[in-house]
Amino acid sequence: MMEKKLVVAIDGPAGAGKSTIAKLAAEELDYIYIDTGAMYRSVAWKFLQSKQDFSPELVSKLAAEMTITFKQEAKLNRVFVDGLEVTDEIRTLEVTEIVSKVSAVGAVREAMVAQQRRMGEAGGVVMDGRDIGTVVFPHADLKIFLTASAEERASRRYKEMLAKGMQVDLKQLQSDIEARDKQDCERKIAPLCCAEDAIFLDSSNMSIQEVASQILTLVQEH
Ligand code: DC
Repeated sequence: MMEKKLVVAIDGPAGAGKSTIAKLAAEELDYIYIDTGAMYRSVAWKFLQSKQDFSPELVSKLAAEMTITFKQEAKLNRVFVDGLEVTDEIRTLEVTEIVSKVSAVGAVREAMVAQQRRMGEAGGVVMDGRDIGTVVFPHADLKIFLTASAEERASRRYKEMLAKGMQVDLKQLQSDIEARDKQDCERKIAPLCCAEDAIFLDSSNMSIQEVASQILTLVQEH
C-alpha cells in the first residue's frame, strides 16, 4: 500500500526556526515545503512596488490578482510573483516593517488561504506560518506549534545577520521581535495562537537537528 502523504502544519512566532525546520523535514520526507510567511511578504513587496498609499482595498486587490509560486532548490526556497523572482526582495527591512499590517487585512488573508489550500490539498506538504493548524488546515494530520523565548530568537537572528556581514543591534532586534509577536497575536483575524490539538515545542534549548528529528518521529508515528 502506498504511504499516506500527510499535511504537516508548523505554526509559531517569528524567528522560532520554523522555516529551517520545515525545510529540513520536507526534504527528509520528500514533501513540498510551503513558506506562507513568504506569501504575505510577497503581497507586501507588491504593495511597495505600487508606490501608492496603503489601503486595505489596494492590498486586497493586489493579493487577489497575484500568483505566488515556489521553486525548491538544494538550499534555497525560491519565491516568484507572477513569474518574477522575489526571493531576496521579500526579505528587506521595508517589507518586514509593513508585512504585519498587510497580513492583518481580511481579504488578503482570504486570497492567501485559498492559494495555500490549493497547494496543500493533495497532501505531502510541510506548511509553516501562523494560522496553518487553526485556519488553513484545521484538520491537518500533524500540527506543531514551534516557539522559543524572544531573547533566544533575537540572539539567533543576530548571529544570522552578523554572519551575513550586517550591522545589527541585539536589543533592537529583540524589541522588534516582541513588537511583531504582539501585532501577530492581537490581530482580529487569524491571530497567532497554538491550536488545541497542536504539539507544543519550545526550541529555546534545542538544536535544529533535535527539533527536526522530533518532528520526523512524530510524522512516522502517524
Ligand atoms: O514568517 P515570516 O516572518 O516570514 O512572516 C511574515 C509576516 O506574515 C508576519 O508578520 C506574520 C505574517 N504571517 C501570517 O500572518 N500568517 C501566516 N500564515 C504566515 C505569516
